[in-house]
Amino acid sequence: GSRSSFLIVANRLPVDRSIGPDGTATWRRSPGGLVTAIAPVMQSRDGAWLGWHGAPGEELEPFHDDGMNLIPIPLSEEEVQLYYEGFSNATLWPLYHDVVAPPVFSREMWETYKAVNLRFAEATAEAAAPGAVVWVQDYQLQLVPQMLRERRPDLRIGFFLHIPFPPVELFWRLPWRTELVKGLLGADLVGFQRPGGASNFIRLCRRLLGLPYKGNEIFHDDRVVTAQSFPISVDFGELDKLARDPQIVHRAKEIRFELGDPEHLLLGVDRLDYTKGIGTRLEAFGELLDERQVEPGEAVFVQIATPSRERVEEYRRLRDDIELQVGRINGMHSMIGHQPIQYLHQAYDRHELAALYLAADIMVVTPLRDGMNLVAKEYVSCHHDLRGALVLSEFAGAADELRQAYLVNPYDVEGVKRQILAAMRATPHEVARRMRAMRRRVSTYDVDRWAGEFLTALES
Ligand code: G6P
Repeated sequence: GSRSSFLIVANRLPVDRSIGPDGTATWRRSPGGLVTAIAPVMQSRDGAWLGWHGAPGEELEPFHDDGMNLIPIPLSEEEVQLYYEGFSNATLWPLYHDVVAPPVFSREMWETYKAVNLRFAEATAEAAAPGAVVWVQDYQLQLVPQMLRERRPDLRIGFFLHIPFPPVELFWRLPWRTELVKGLLGADLVGFQRPGGASNFIRLCRRLLGLPYKGNEIFHDDRVVTAQSFPISVDFGELDKLARDPQIVHRAKEIRFELGDPEHLLLGVDRLDYTKGIGTRLEAFGELLDERQVEPGEAVFVQIATPSRERVEEYRRLRDDIELQVGRINGMHSMIGHQPIQYLHQAYDRHELAALYLAADIMVVTPLRDGMNLVAKEYVSCHHDLRGALVLSEFAGAADELRQAYLVNPYDVEGVKRQILAAMRATPHEVARRMRAMRRRVSTYDVDRWAGEFLTALES
């Protein structure tokens, strides 16, 4: 086919192919913040997106979807286990998130990670027009920038890390630390969510490779590599419009009614991931009920926990823990016809999510560590009515911008309880004041601005 002058390279395509029990294939929007953020950027540029299509062992031809050219990269069943579930999600994911779970170090996983990164780099080298701009995404593909540069020195290569970049002391544990850093240094611009990520990376380049730097510019191989933060965001305008749709407004009222019209509707929306601090927030809510600081009939906590990485050991354990915890709290505090926690281990489409956001009085976002957390920004974007308080972890990137949230340290259960109570007791005037300020921030720094600033820096 024809070659593209703008390419996104990500582990996943924006759509996911799953094979049902009857053998029929269906396409669905892929999970997570990365796809949510990049899809609108792609639709406005006529580029190509290279990524895995979600079905192990299947090879697919390039195709067109939703205004995007999609180039599927195949992964075998074994590669899914060793590269995706293994090195990406059992090694890098926990290591980069402050080792909140113990990382697995396996040479076999690393070898497969390298082989898959090479496949992505080769496919990109083939699909890119001369002088094209290539934007590589996230921790699954950290070797791609260097592998691509070796093959196509004419390209402009950017890399963005959607998750935190860890302190030197943690990164140092990786037996393959030097190769990984060199992989990233193949890019012209390496983007991070927070300034701390960029400075961790610069410090690492100095300590590990002895590279000189000035400000945010690192000097490597007669080239300049820039390391800079670009906090990712959401499509504020689109979410705001969606949440004003009379059908969504109606659905939000209906949800409250179906939940028995509680005085306080609390909401959590996460992939079922141990970094998200779901257990912490349930513990805080459970104690508020135990202590009768919250009366069982007056509050409902809706926790959406989208299934994620279900074959990875730590995720299975987490699911068992959360389900046990929900059962205990509900067992203690339910009444006939009322359960304090509504736990939904399901995926929801954006319409139902918008209605849930709008219905909720308090959104509780308590990750132990999170690159950004787009759920917090989605909640803010949907609350055109200026109702709704946000309880937000200091350890989410979003806390840098959403200063008017009820900020919490998720390791401090008493503090989380205090802030939930403060949000419950706040006057409508106070809630509106905070929400207005947060909406101003998200509407200014929306996803277009994020992509625009990154690409301007990359192309200059
Ligand atoms: C996070 C990561 C993304 C990832 C998403 C969903 O947002 O930064 O790279 O795609 O989670 O996880 P999954 O493993 O299902 O792709």
